[in-house]
Amino acid sequence: MRKPLTGAFCNGKCGFCRSFWLNFPYNLSMANTQTLYKLSLRPKTENDTPWLRQHLINEWGGEPILAYKQAYYPTQLPGFVAVLEGAQGSQIVGEATFVIEKPYCEIITLSSLREGVGIGTALFSYVEAVARAEGCRKLRLVSPTDDLRAIGFYQKRGMRIVAVLPDALEAVRKLKPHIPRTGRNGISLQDEMLFEKLLT
Ligand SMILES: CC(C)(COP(=O)(O)OP(=O)(O)OC[C@H]1O[C@@H](n2cnc3c(N)ncnc32)[C@H](O)[C@@H]1OP(=O)(O)O)[C@@H](O)C(=O)NCCC(=O)NCCS
Repeated sequence: MRKPLTGAFCNGKCGFCRSFWLNFPYNLSMANTQTLYKLSLRPKTENDTPWLRQHLINEWGGEPILAYKQAYYPTQLPGFVAVLEGAQGSQIVGEATFVIEKPYCEIITLSSLREGVGIGTALFSYVEAVARAEGCRKLRLVSPTDDLRAIGFYQKRGMRIVAVLPDALEAVRKLKPHIPRTGRNGISLQDEMLFEKLLT
């Protein structure tokens, strides 16, 4: 079993977050869309931890998340949240967390709770921009083979499938035995794919 990595807890004031706040939103092509359909993206903070922890339980069976070669606790990682402002207040409708281990920036989680309106694209673009700004040469992530929507989404955003990881979900099951055998689209939850994008 891969050993979970427990880094310093991110309270929104770590080096990454300070850098985000100082430079945010970097020189993004999306800088003028920081507000999108009453939607704003911001670096996540310690205040987002209860929401994120519950979200990870709902969507990923809880922490830790097994990434390519390591397990991570996304509540302790830098990341972004997408916030929808409405008449009844604001709610988080998306999140992305990542790890920078040069030359890689690895997306550990990226999810949208309002699909098809640009939230996933905005989150992906922000992480990519941070990776570039931090001098990473490659963006990478792993995704199970059942998530056909995500597989298409990432390829359309320049990620390439560079490896299939047979039985990768078995390693995850050692941590989370409750993971079902069948996933989305009736596809067996057994293998994962490794995606990479060269940041030139
Ligand atoms: C994959 C995932 C992140 C996509 O998020 P999303 O919010 O639906 O993404 P977007 O809305 O930005 O883009 C989805 C599609 O909607 C389209 N779209 C975006 N805004 C739109 C709008 N205003 N009107 C019409 N279509 C729109 C996009 O063009 C895109 O289509 P394309 O991929 O053919 O270009 C989301 O499905 C998800 O959370 N999946 C589960 C978690 C997961 O699998 N994560 C990956 C593992 S880390």
